[in-house]
Amino acid sequence: MCGIYASYSLKAEKKVFEGLKRIEYRGYDSWGVATLVDGKLLLKKEVGKLSDQKNFKFVESKLSLGHTRWATHGGVTKVNAHPHLAKNKSFALVQNGVVENYQKLKSELQSDGYNFISQTDTEVIVGLLEKEMELNFEKTLSTSVFIKVFKKLAGRNTVLVITSEGQLMTIRDGSPLVAGKNSQGEFYFSSDVLSMSPDAEKYMVIKSGEMAVFNSEDSSFSVLDIKTEQKIKTDFIPLEHKLDLANITMDIGKDSYESYMLKEIHEQSSMLPNVIRDSKPKFLMAAEMIKKAKQVFTLGCGSASYATGHTAYLLRKTGILTLAVEAYEADSYLELLNNDSKNSVCIVFSQSGETADTNEIVELMKAKGVKIISVVNMPGSTLTQLSDLSFMLQVGPELAVASTKAFLGHVLWGITISDIICGSKFNDLEIKINEFEYKLKEWFANKSIQNNIKNIAKKLTKCEHLFVLGRGNLYYASLESALKLKEISYIHAEGFSSGELKHGVIALISKDTPVLCLVAEDKNKANMLSAISEVKARGGKTIVIAKENNELYDNWIQLPDTNDYVFLSSVIPAQLITCFMAVEKGYDVDKPRNLAKSVTVK
Ligand code: F6R
Repeated sequence: MCGIYASYSLKAEKKVFEGLKRIEYRGYDSWGVATLVDGKLLLKKEVGKLSDQKNFKFVESKLSLGHTRWATHGGVTKVNAHPHLAKNKSFALVQNGVVENYQKLKSELQSDGYNFISQTDTEVIVGLLEKEMELNFEKTLSTSVFIKVFKKLAGRNTVLVITSEGQLMTIRDGSPLVAGKNSQGEFYFSSDVLSMSPDAEKYMVIKSGEMAVFNSEDSSFSVLDIKTEQKIKTDFIPLEHKLDLANITMDIGKDSYESYMLKEIHEQSSMLPNVIRDSKPKFLMAAEMIKKAKQVFTLGCGSASYATGHTAYLLRKTGILTLAVEAYEADSYLELLNNDSKNSVCIVFSQSGETADTNEIVELMKAKGVKIISVVNMPGSTLTQLSDLSFMLQVGPELAVASTKAFLGHVLWGITISDIICGSKFNDLEIKINEFEYKLKEWFANKSIQNNIKNIAKKLTKCEHLFVLGRGNLYYASLESALKLKEISYIHAEGFSSGELKHGVIALISKDTPVLCLVAEDKNKANMLSAISEVKARGGKTIVIAKENNELYDNWIQLPDTNDYVFLSSVIPAQLITCFMAVEKGYDVDKPRNLAKSVTVK
């Protein structure tokens, strides 16, 4: 959701353009760059994708700032795209976040005679900066004016400015921002560390509440605390080393796959052991924290909340009372923290580590003394910095907007921690996960299973509604499967517990309604079979994802032979079906409409 890339280098505009392409996965609908040429800021903005620009002409310059916009306030138009240029042309500005009090600030500026040209909340920041510069008789933006204006903004915002004097100035209070440099004296800012890897050799995460200033005149760089306006000592960290530690591969290409999503689905058959690799001491520590806690919460959004929901389910099965909280519905749960917050633990899952809804609740919990255990996939992300104990998923970059391998990684983390709490030996779990990895590889390589899934997807392409039933161990798998179907192939898909069927949902089943049923070989199987019979009795068509076939099933998708990890294998068919359906319908699998990878605004 919105991305920033800035460069001080030879061919800076080209570098920015290429950098923006590496953060495309975050989701955007328009983009723009502001480049300093002979002391003037040159603005180029477009609606649509960077890749639509086949013959883009780059200007020669050493300083450039770019932005990809995911519209929140104001439609998808060229005018609303960032950067926004000051009326006196002394600076251009990009913003990630939402100025929550923009209506009040806007009407104040309007009564002062300020004329708005866009519908964005961003232009309010431009207007406030111009007004304050005028009051201070400033021709160029100073750090103190920037800080003063920034403090007037409500909400979580990250703002970066390029000035006609050759400065890049930023304040971060929300969305991530990383600074980078290399031995050729080049300097960069980006929304994520991975996108900077081809350009920078060292990096530094700008923390919330910090201002960073790069001056191209003398290549000086400084970081200030916006509370005290005093400089703070900071260090750049070697980038390669950090990426190695997080097992992030530098290969972010699609290989022979037609989409990143398909590639990432297939990678699930080889990345599972990474989730627990080298993490035995941390898992044992987390297990102790959870066992000792008086209250245990799990927290996340979207797919991550389904993975935490399943973890809470597993922990309850070990006898630990665990409350699964969707971050955007955390209000009433926060009241429970008044009793014994210091003895509470919250397990937080997030692929990006930057989800605003999640991080806001984590900050509130942390302030009350709750211990935070997080599992993320992005090194250096905000959530890792907020955590008492932080795990890296180590599944490699997930570039498709819809989460697949990070989701599976999170679920495996949840299964592993509950197995450890139940007394399993870590080494035995490593062996079990390796065995499962082997079975999953065989499953992906089985042409008849894969063709069956493709055929089923083809048949489903015309359907508008689809229901997914699961129960117990597979309840959250049904919710996640339905979410993947909605996000990528834009069909109305709903996940339910099969127990819910006769309490209302069955009213929706009529002739030929497709129903995806997730069946495990456990005590819920009998209930699932009854639900399948009830669906069939009303003319519905069942597609059953299970280890074994049954004459009741209209269609059967065979699963690998595993009980311990049945959740993991059960969601993969829906991931594949939605990918194949989207391709049939001509949709962009990796960048589904309206969605962003990193949801950094509330
Ligand atoms: C669905 C999906 C989203 C994310 C959610 C949280 O495919 O990707 O539902 O799971 O927005 O994002 P993270 O995991 O980055 O906190």
